[in-house]
Amino acid sequence: MNAPVEEVVYIVPILDSTDVLKARQSARELAARLKLGSADQTRLATAVSELTRNVLQYAGQGQCKIIDASSDTQTRITVVVEDHGPGIPDIELAMRDGYSTSGGLGAGLPGVQRLMDEFHLISQSGHTCLTITMSRPRLAL
Ligand SMILES: Nc1ncnc2c1ncn2[C@@H]1O[C@H](COP(=O)(O)OP(=O)(O)OP(=O)(O)O)[C@@H](O)[C@H]1O
Ligand SMILES: [Mg+2]
Repeated sequence: MNAPVEEVVYIVPILDSTDVLKARQSARELAARLKLGSADQTRLATAVSELTRNVLQYAGQGQCKIIDASSDTQTRITVVVEDHGPGIPDIELAMRDGYSTSGGLGAGLPGVQRLMDEFHLISQSGHTCLTITMSRPRLAL
């Protein structure tokens, strides 16, 4: 089995709401190109949309990197969403359903975690980084 080679397919700067749409569409496009089903395309697009919306809302701006980390046996898409905003002081609290500092539903982060196969969040003042991955067994040709 070949070692997976990670290829950064898209880097989308997140500066305004059109970029949220761009990131969302880019994620869907890669998922479709790698032959993930339409439900998975939507799951990934939704997750990317939530995280990039948070960037705009809480940090003002940031970046979304969409990576093809597939191997011979797995189709794997990793998305890294990063910003240099104020950070999340209490991650455990932020991951709770219904917790919002902006009067939102507080459904974004826990929802994204449920949609994805892997979810990592690191945050400190001045840097927040979310890394999410969707992986599916690769169908034999
Ligand atoms: N990139 C970020 N930088 C700083 N704080 C963040 C960031 N992302 C999320 N948060 C904090 O985590 C909380 C929970 O985020 P989450 O996306 O789950 O809910 P929400 O954005 O408040 O509401 P919803 O996403 O349902 O509209 C936010 O209210 C905010 O305080
Ligand atoms: Mg949110």
